[in-house]
Amino acid sequence: MFDIQEIRSQFSILNREVNGKPLVYLDNAATSQKPNSVLEVWNQYYTELNANVHRGIHTLSQLATEEMELSRRKIQNFINAKHDFEVIFTKGTTEGINLVSYILTQKLKKDDEIIISYLEHHSNIVPWQMLCERTGAKLRVIPIDENGVLQLDYLDQFLSEKTKVVSVNQVSNALGVVNPIEEIIAKTRANSDAYIVIDGAQSAPHFKIDVQALDCDFFVFSGHKMYAPMGTGILYGKQEVLESLPPFHGGGEMIAVCSFDKTTYAGLPFKYEAGTPNVGGNIALGAAVDFISKIGHSTLQNHENALLAYAQSKLLEIERLKVYAEKANRTGVVSFNLKGIGISSDVGMILDKMGIAVRTGHHCTQPIMDFFNIAGTVRASFAVYNTFEEIDLLVEGVKKAQRMLS
Ligand code: ALA
Repeated sequence: MFDIQEIRSQFSILNREVNGKPLVYLDNAATSQKPNSVLEVWNQYYTELNANVHRGIHTLSQLATEEMELSRRKIQNFINAKHDFEVIFTKGTTEGINLVSYILTQKLKKDDEIIISYLEHHSNIVPWQMLCERTGAKLRVIPIDENGVLQLDYLDQFLSEKTKVVSVNQVSNALGVVNPIEEIIAKTRANSDAYIVIDGAQSAPHFKIDVQALDCDFFVFSGHKMYAPMGTGILYGKQEVLESLPPFHGGGEMIAVCSFDKTTYAGLPFKYEAGTPNVGGNIALGAAVDFISKIGHSTLQNHENALLAYAQSKLLEIERLKVYAEKANRTGVVSFNLKGIGISSDVGMILDKMGIAVRTGHHCTQPIMDFFNIAGTVRASFAVYNTFEEIDLLVEGVKKAQRMLS
């Protein structure tokens, strides 16, 4: 039985008021709130366990190490990685994609090609442009149609022996469109030797991820969008791929032997975890995985899909309101504008006065905004603790904004 009030009772922040109104938090694609179980684990780490990991013989260091490695195994199970050492702790999706694009530098040469899509967040565009600048490779971009759906015919045209990387997101942060990554991966494997990178920042909070079934080379996501603290994230990489590539940051913990003549590198995962990690955050990410697992993916998804369908149908009852990617397969996000009201942040500010938190603007996806010839959208994004009553409040708020701004 899905008991929404029981779920909400685990998030103290949902009891607060904003601008004198109960908080209606609909900015989950930017970051989710954190349940008490995650905050308790994080707090417990700093009050009872704080020590650096993998370095000390002393008890606290060993306990902290055990807890962080336990968390790594929880995440391994969560994404069905074959080995725990394929799970690398990062500070988020952006760092994960930058890491991958950096370590692939030697694998690309002039006129090689990197395929991304129009639906990418800037963090899955800019690192690849930087890689192109370093190597002379070229970027190719799978276009979208008016519904925000990828035109995969172009992928067929683009794929060749020149293709060295295909990097796409599973879910668009700006529109919520779910991309057919299984098909993209199958086409890529059949027609190239490219490395396949999946940006799971907006899918990991909602979907069951199975990296072995996907057969991608890399899968990156953030902890803070899936109920864990900020500054946490995961890079999954296939063992043989990570072992064949150079390290990223140099420093402590990532070496086997360091001398002035020659330094050799540690095995996985430590080769990619130089420096002191976010130990408390990484342990708390394990608690976030427990939180999601306890609810269960199908329950979570049923609820979130019902919220999305309800939000879309209620918003579309408002005259002169356009939902972007209205007919596409989507999850977690409804992105819209009021026709004739050019500035999405004006709507966002009126909603904020009513205690309703949404994101407005370009959502770090300027190419999508350019495609639709707009400066931005109003984006409501959902998590497991949101309710239908909150959506009613959003709809009332949007109607009020329309009255005030028309
Ligand atoms: N990538 C986050 C968002 O879409 C910050 O809001």
